[in-house]
Amino acid sequence: MRVVCVGGGPAGLYLSILMRKARPGSRVIVLERNRPEDTFGFGVVFSDATLDKLGEADRQTYDEITRGFAHWDDIDIHFKGQLLRSTGHGFSGLSRKTLLGILQRRAVELGVELRFEAEVRPDAQFPEADLIVIADGVNSALRAHHAAHFQPEIDWRPNRFVWLGTTFPFGAFTFYFKESRHGLFQVHAYRYEQGSSTFIVECSDETFRRTGLDPADEDATLAYCEALFAAELAGHRLQKNRSLWRSFPVIRNGRWHHENRVLLGDAAHTAHFSIGSGTKLAMEDAIALAAALEEHPDIPAALAAYERHRKPVVESTQRAAQVSLEWFESTERYLRLEPLQFAFSCLTRSLRVTHENLQRRDPAFVARVDADFAENAWRLVSPERAPDRTDTRETPPPMFTPFRLRGMVLENRVVVSPMCQYSAEEGLVGDWHLVHLGSRALGGAGLVITEMTDVSRDGRISLGCAGMYDPAHVEAWRRIVDFVHRQSGTKIGLQLAHAGRKGSTRRMWEGIDEPLTEGGWPILSASPIPYLPHSPVPKEMDRDDMDRVRGEFVRAARMAEESGFDMLELHFAHGYLLASFISPLTNVRTDAYGGAVAQRMRYPLEVFDAVRAVWPSDKPMSVRISATDWAPGGLDPADAVEVARLLKEHDCDIVDVSSGQTIATAKPRYGRLYQTPFSDRIRHDAGVPTMTVGNIGSWADVNSILAAGRADLCVLARAHLYDPYWTRHAAYEQEHELAWPDQYRPAAFFTPRSK
Ligand SMILES: Cc1cc2nc3c(=O)[nH]c(=O)nc-3n(C[C@H](O)[C@H](O)[C@H](O)COP(=O)(O)OP(=O)(O)OC[C@H]3O[C@@H](n4cnc5c(N)ncnc54)[C@H](O)[C@@H]3O)c2cc1C
Ligand SMILES: Cc1cc2nc3c(=O)[nH]c(=O)nc-3n(C[C@H](O)[C@H](O)[C@H](O)COP(=O)(O)O)c2cc1C
Repeated sequence: MRVVCVGGGPAGLYLSILMRKARPGSRVIVLERNRPEDTFGFGVVFSDATLDKLGEADRQTYDEITRGFAHWDDIDIHFKGQLLRSTGHGFSGLSRKTLLGILQRRAVELGVELRFEAEVRPDAQFPEADLIVIADGVNSALRAHHAAHFQPEIDWRPNRFVWLGTTFPFGAFTFYFKESRHGLFQVHAYRYEQGSSTFIVECSDETFRRTGLDPADEDATLAYCEALFAAELAGHRLQKNRSLWRSFPVIRNGRWHHENRVLLGDAAHTAHFSIGSGTKLAMEDAIALAAALEEHPDIPAALAAYERHRKPVVESTQRAAQVSLEWFESTERYLRLEPLQFAFSCLTRSLRVTHENLQRRDPAFVARVDADFAENAWRLVSPERAPDRTDTRETPPPMFTPFRLRGMVLENRVVVSPMCQYSAEEGLVGDWHLVHLGSRALGGAGLVITEMTDVSRDGRISLGCAGMYDPAHVEAWRRIVDFVHRQSGTKIGLQLAHAGRKGSTRRMWEGIDEPLTEGGWPILSASPIPYLPHSPVPKEMDRDDMDRVRGEFVRAARMAEESGFDMLELHFAHGYLLASFISPLTNVRTDAYGGAVAQRMRYPLEVFDAVRAVWPSDKPMSVRISATDWAPGGLDPADAVEVARLLKEHDCDIVDVSSGQTIATAKPRYGRLYQTPFSDRIRHDAGVPTMTVGNIGSWADVNSILAAGRADLCVLARAHLYDPYWTRHAAYEQEHELAWPDQYRPAAFFTPRSK
């Protein structure tokens, strides 16, 4: 096989090594525009976890790489004059030059033909090659030339950064957060060999502009940063090496291969340097491509297999990198946190390192975080019950601390999310709902929220939806509420809604959002836009409709009080009636209820105020919102902050942050904790308590979210369908005692086993 590899960075060199190793008879040529010793930047970081894979792929390179390593375990965070140290992380640093030297030598030893100072033109053809590997880095000219096939997407991020070096011998991976007269600067620094450290300075574009620096003036940059970090550098100098202020491009490609051409490393994808994964990803790509070529003799089949297996793995890392880079883009938001919580937030910023991971790495650090969290929680509920801070064995995990909203005190921070059961008759809930909600209350969650319950017959989604519009409904709900109150410490909230243009549809299992073919009813919305092309056109609400529906919400709230509910949640999300006013995609009104966010919120807030006026003042109200429509021109997270601010002004106690389901063509980016960044943003920017929901699967995630201040409560839906006793099981695994109902006391002496 004849292979041409464009680019002699970590990706191209490592692939050439693996190719020659696997097929000594093949001809592998690497074309690199630079000289062997030329390189930009200073050091690269590998986590211990990465290294195992390199060891398996080529032991010799692995041994050489690890011999050259500077290793450290600690992460130091310098914030507001304090040093917060967390240990047990296991990283290694290496100079990029050393890494490239090792790879170049190994490649030559294996018979790879390395051609330096060989500039490849974007339209180069290589007719003699069986395989053309495009490993020409982040600014890949060959990718651009074949853009129609690879479909690259480049998202230039707003922050500025510059990659510098220093002789300061950092003993830990070090972050500085330094406020100056120009704004906040953040430094990511680590030692990569004796006497040499990487020192990356990052700031927002606004802060950079205020410095007045020319992005290309390396000497001025050095002088500025040396003065700014004089105390930290303690007399050590900074060093330059093509140290220009840049913006980070997040690169994704729709396809990674075309005919016999394939993308590798930064040419295929980037992941922000704050998770230190670019070199790792590049080298893992090489391992994956070499394995696919080994498995499939036919090159197009091998390239397809490489893309199929490797792309989702990389996309998952990119999602983690995305939340990490967004954390650094919005650090100003977290400046008001106490230093310990700030450090915890920083350490868990990618949402992949959890409370539990950190606890294993550094139990003492997490014990301090938990003790602080518990103390703050009890201070707001009943200070006399606060655990003894000096004895951290007494400190419960964050999820088992109480939370107060007005007169309602939750025993823990786990919430059962509203979930339609489509099992009511004429709005009347029955035995199914009693068992469904009752067993989840016995399961130990602090709060159970009922399914979307409609304020009128015509406000239902489907014929099976629950209602609160008939006296019989009050009694049926009271039976459930009484059970929950009598048999558990769980509180119960009612989610009130009107389905709007998504009404008169089938039950979930009969075709979600599909219009009823018979027995349907007239539907309402902010504007006359059907949900699906074949859905009925809703009536645009006039003032009479608005008054009537507002009255129905008020009536339902009064009934909820009669039933004994502890909390009300109004449903302003997922495209239902009140949500249809908030999104610009569903509200195109030209009257006082359309236009900017504040106008679009007018009617939903009218409803909120009217309900608040009749709902007892010691009982809280929450509102569920969609923080983004996941669609161009739709509501975005910045609008959601505005929505939350308005809700707070109107005395909403907590915002339940969901997303999407506004329009049928939305393109949500699902993934673990995919909505938590919206909650984090709203909680800090609007200064209102939040609940977060969406793909929270583990108690480790719940503890991380809470301890980092990303939400006040964690809401789980499908996890509770799978396991009604989710909270009890989480308590058992964390050795936290949760009282059983009397009837189930013997369960406390049972040891579950999985096999
Ligand atoms: C500030 C910063 C910090 C980083 N920190 C880390 C870190 O700590 N850990 C980590 O793992 N990664 C880090 N990275 C990322 C890392 O540098 C890259 O992800 C990695 O080098 C990608 O390898 P590659 O081989 O795909 O691309 P590159 O290393 O960019 O190699 C591409 C090569 O192709 C050559 N080339 C380009 N065009 C042509 C052409 N037309 N003809 C011939 N040759 C060409 C280039 O000269 C270059 O040598 C960091 C990046 C930045 C910007
Ligand atoms: C069967 C089912 C029914 C749902 N019904 C509602 C509902 O009535 N009201 C609501 O706001 N969200 C509803 N949702 C959305 C969930 O409350 C939750 O926001 C979503 O499932 C994401 O959380 P998860 O990843 O923990 O499942 C429903 C979800 C499911 C799976």
